[in-house]
Amino acid sequence: MSTVIWFLTGNKGKLAEAADHLSPLGFEVRQLNLPDGTIVEPQHDSLEDVAIAKLEQAKQYLPEGETHVMVEDAGLFVAPLDGFPGIYSSYAFKTIGYQGILRLLDHLQSEDPVQAASLRSASFQAVAALWDGENIILGTGSCPGAISTVPSGEEGFGFDPVFIPLDLDDLGQPLPPGTYGVTSTHGATFGTVSMEIKQKFSHRRRALDRLVAELSGDNQEL
Ligand code: IMP
Repeated sequence: MSTVIWFLTGNKGKLAEAADHLSPLGFEVRQLNLPDGTIVEPQHDSLEDVAIAKLEQAKQYLPEGETHVMVEDAGLFVAPLDGFPGIYSSYAFKTIGYQGILRLLDHLQSEDPVQAASLRSASFQAVAALWDGENIILGTGSCPGAISTVPSGEEGFGFDPVFIPLDLDDLGQPLPPGTYGVTSTHGATFGTVSMEIKQKFSHRRRALDRLVAELSGDNQEL
C-alpha cells in the first residue's frame, strides 16, 4: 500500500506537479485544502522558516491515522532591493504588483542588455517541506534571472511578465548573463513562454526534485 502525502495547497496545478514527482517513488499525493485563514501566514525571515511554521500548523489538520504532510512556498527575490519582496511576494503582488517592482527599479537602466541583467538581477526561489511523521525534509530550488524594463506576455501568473530567466546549459545549470544556452527564452520574460518551457527553469520543480532526492536517499547536486 502506498504512503499518502497530504499537500497543503489550494492550487490544483501545484497538486498535479507534486503528484507527478512523488508517485514514481510510491507516494500518493492528496490535497489538504483548508478554508482561507485556517493557516496563519507566519512572519519569518526565510522561506524555509515560513514553510516549517506552516507545516507545524498543518500537522493538526491531517486526517485520522495519517502521518505525511507537505507545504510549498515561493517568492521573488530582487537583488538591488536587498531581496524584497521575498517572503512577502504574495502581499507585494496584491498591493504594488509587478508595476511597483518596475517603478522601484526605474533608476537601474542600461542600453547594454548584459549590464541591465546584472543591475536588475533577481531570482525566484521555492521551498518544499515534508513532515514524514518523525522528521522535516526540505527541498529548495532557485531560478536566477533579471527584472525586465517593461512587462510582456500574458502567460503564467504573478511576476512572470517582468521576469527574464538566465539561459541554462545542457545540464540545466544557469549560465552568466549574456551567455546563450541550450535552454533559453531568448531574452523574453516568463510571461511570453508556454508552461512547458517555464517548467524547464522552474524553482518549484527544482525544489520538488531536491525533496525527492532527499526522500530517496540520493542527495547529490541536481
Ligand atoms: P507561492 O508561495 O507559490 O504562492 O508564491 C508566492 C508569490 O510569489 C506568488 O503570489 C507570486 O506573486 C510570486 N511567485 C512565486 N512563484 C512565481 C512564479 O513562478 N511566477 C511568478 N510569480 C511567482
